[in-house]
Amino acid sequence: MNKSLRAFNTFGIEAYADQFIEINSVAQLQGVLQEITQPFYILGGGSNILLLNDLKGVVLKMSIPAIKIEQTFKHTVYLSAGAGVNWHQLVLFAVENDLGGLENLSLIPGTVGASPMQNIGAYGVEIKEVFHRLEAVEIATGKIKIFRKKELAFGYRNSVFKNKLKGKYIITKVWFKLSKPPHRLRLSYGAIQSVLADSGIDQPTIRDISNAVIKIRSEKLPDPRDIGNAGSFFKNPVIGPKLFTSLYQQYPKLPHYPQPDGTVKLPAAWLIEQCGWKGKRIGDTGTHIRQALVLVNYGNAKGAEIHALALKIQESVRQKFKISLEMEVNIWD
Ligand code: EPU
Repeated sequence: MNKSLRAFNTFGIEAYADQFIEINSVAQLQGVLQEITQPFYILGGGSNILLLNDLKGVVLKMSIPAIKIEQTFKHTVYLSAGAGVNWHQLVLFAVENDLGGLENLSLIPGTVGASPMQNIGAYGVEIKEVFHRLEAVEIATGKIKIFRKKELAFGYRNSVFKNKLKGKYIITKVWFKLSKPPHRLRLSYGAIQSVLADSGIDQPTIRDISNAVIKIRSEKLPDPRDIGNAGSFFKNPVIGPKLFTSLYQQYPKLPHYPQPDGTVKLPAAWLIEQCGWKGKRIGDTGTHIRQALVLVNYGNAKGAEIHALALKIQESVRQKFKISLEMEVNIWD
């Protein structure tokens, strides 16, 4: 156990790996896959993992670089980025080049390679709306495969790589289809509209939206450099109409987002807050004071302590609301 992973996971958990290899190209990755005999773990920005123990194996840190404008058409531009590119750097590149589509996804921690795995989303946009295709290496054969959008089976915080193809491929590059001006702005999220109105902006640009999202995120979500966290710890649950009707009668203030198929999405943060967990601290773990869905490490929490807190929260929500919260963060054991 000789490599500390503390700086490589946004929870700031101290855990060690036997070996740590930085991957900078597809060819290098193929070579490593051919030689490797130990178990291995694919690491991006470490912003969606919880380390429970030291890792008996090799960490492959995906650092494949480069953002490139691939093709420019009258209304659209195809932009590619290596799996190791920092997500927010990609968003800033797009905004600086007046390419629309990524601005609502500003300041999300993590890397480009991890972004399609769970169809990252925020402030009214999911990556599936701008995703075009990706390149991945098949672990069993080392062969390169291109995946088109329809093969990804994108869902809410979900894709084929979390289901049927889990652990089978390593994403190395992603292409995005972005817009040239005039852009279609996504302003449905109330908080974006409030920030723009407060700043007196009535003809927003994509830069204004990016800045608004940066402001909202910075005010509400803890910066992992100050307080360890991995963003939303659980997914927002989607429940059937029957359970919703009975809960809504009991809790008329229950915030809810009806889905096209008749199901209803509920904010997990609200459910957790109602169970009394918001801002609660146990040792060095707790939920964030301004966002109950975000579990935090105040200093030297162990992964197992955060996991234990998550299980307690799940149990409270199950007891009070009959809803099972699903973890969004990946547990590494
Ligand atoms: N709320 C509470 N208590 C809280 C916080 C929120 O009751 O402590 C309620 C409020 O009613 C609020 C609602 O929950 O209106 C929704 O809250 P928020 O807008 O903060 O969004 P969220 O549903 O908690 C989701 C994503 C976030 C994303 C935001 C903004 C998931 C699991 N999380 O959070 O994504 O940034 O919307 O679009 O879908 C992430 O995935 O890591 C992440 C941060």
